[in-house]
Amino acid sequence: MAIQTPKGTRDILPNEIHKWNYVEKEFAIICKRFGYQEIRIPVFEYTELFQRGVGDDTDIVQKEMYTFNDKGGRSITLRPEGTAGVVRSYIQNGMSSLPQPVKLFYQITAYRYEQVQQGRYREFHQFGAELLGAQDAAADVEIISILALFFEKIGVKNLILNLNSIGCPECRKAYNELLKEYLSDKISDMCDTCKTRYDRNPMRILDCKVDSCRAHLINAPALLDHICDDCRAHFEQVTHKLETIGIPYNIDRNIVRGLDYYTKTVFEFVSENIGTKGTVCGGGRYDGLVEEIGGQPTPGVGFALGVERLLLEMESQGIEFPEADAPDIYIGAIGERAGQVAEKLTWQLRSKNIYCIKDIMGRSVKAQMKYADKLNVRYTLILGDNEIDSNKARLKDMKTGETKDISLDTLIDRLVKNKA
Ligand code: HAM
Repeated sequence: MAIQTPKGTRDILPNEIHKWNYVEKEFAIICKRFGYQEIRIPVFEYTELFQRGVGDDTDIVQKEMYTFNDKGGRSITLRPEGTAGVVRSYIQNGMSSLPQPVKLFYQITAYRYEQVQQGRYREFHQFGAELLGAQDAAADVEIISILALFFEKIGVKNLILNLNSIGCPECRKAYNELLKEYLSDKISDMCDTCKTRYDRNPMRILDCKVDSCRAHLINAPALLDHICDDCRAHFEQVTHKLETIGIPYNIDRNIVRGLDYYTKTVFEFVSENIGTKGTVCGGGRYDGLVEEIGGQPTPGVGFALGVERLLLEMESQGIEFPEADAPDIYIGAIGERAGQVAEKLTWQLRSKNIYCIKDIMGRSVKAQMKYADKLNVRYTLILGDNEIDSNKARLKDMKTGETKDISLDTLIDRLVKNKA
């Protein structure tokens, strides 16, 4: 049997790549408009980065990472997300000595060993942005507004922005005790992962996907009701600034996010269209992460958006994508002499940025025209001995069916002008 892609991975084929190119380009434009610069980070990092960054007790680190020893015996992990790598790069490359804040965006693949379903894959793509060095609520709002503007620009409507605050390590300490107290008579009925988390990191119990555990969590205290004054003031500034810009939000006390680095603001944009996998993107503040990875204390906030989920959402909303580029002209040729002229002409047209296709299969004119039609070309031009002797050929507009005899000398200028 022919070899297939591994489960949870897929090819992005030529007939859909224009959709990807379109959102990639628009995302980069919006990020640059906010002053973000692109960063590219490695696909794999030392495992320790994610253990420390994403957190040892998270589902991602405990269950979902692609980890292996390389030939030198080092533990390596395919990145399950981008933030930890970006923060590592910020520290490693001395970006703390650049004018702050440092604003970075990325377009990456990420890898998680998850149960594969619609919108949930093992290799997937993320667009992300990270804002390092800014403490103010204005930074949280800037990060959210990149997304709001991006969705507006590409015509995605009706995503709901769910917002929460999960406080700082101080308020979380008190909350963890409260949560443990609430769970004390329930934990013996809960799964083994919850039992381990009960002592190590009680808040992570809120991530449990096991139905019987979830049932015990329905009346659990919400962290938002127990955050400290400083965190509350920050949250109020975030909501106030969102209201000022006019970005609607919904407060969702249940968002805890599946990564350990978050502090204060956490948020998700969700859709009703893509079912249970409705979270198109998520993010939040991570004021302790730079220090956790070995840098100086530096506040940070960012997001990542799942590109596959974004495209599913766009398709379900019936959003039209700009069409893939079609060739400007197909140069057909009959005979060897014409073939040589076509060769030269095609070269000249391409060097003038004209999207030009010619026969490279030695096919009959009829077959060449059939092929040109399938390529959806704008113009065709057929060269034979007569055309070369008279230096004239018939240019056919494939959209209107109109034909015109034109001098071969003017063809290039005419097409360049048409394209401008
Ligand atoms: P995350 O919520 O784990 O956050 O992932 C962000 C987005 O990636 C999700 O909302 C979803 O659209 C997409 N995604 C996650 N897992 C999968 C999957 N298995 N298949 C398809 N799409 C998926 C982060 O990754 C954080 N680094 C976000 C962040 C950046 N926070 C601060 N800065």
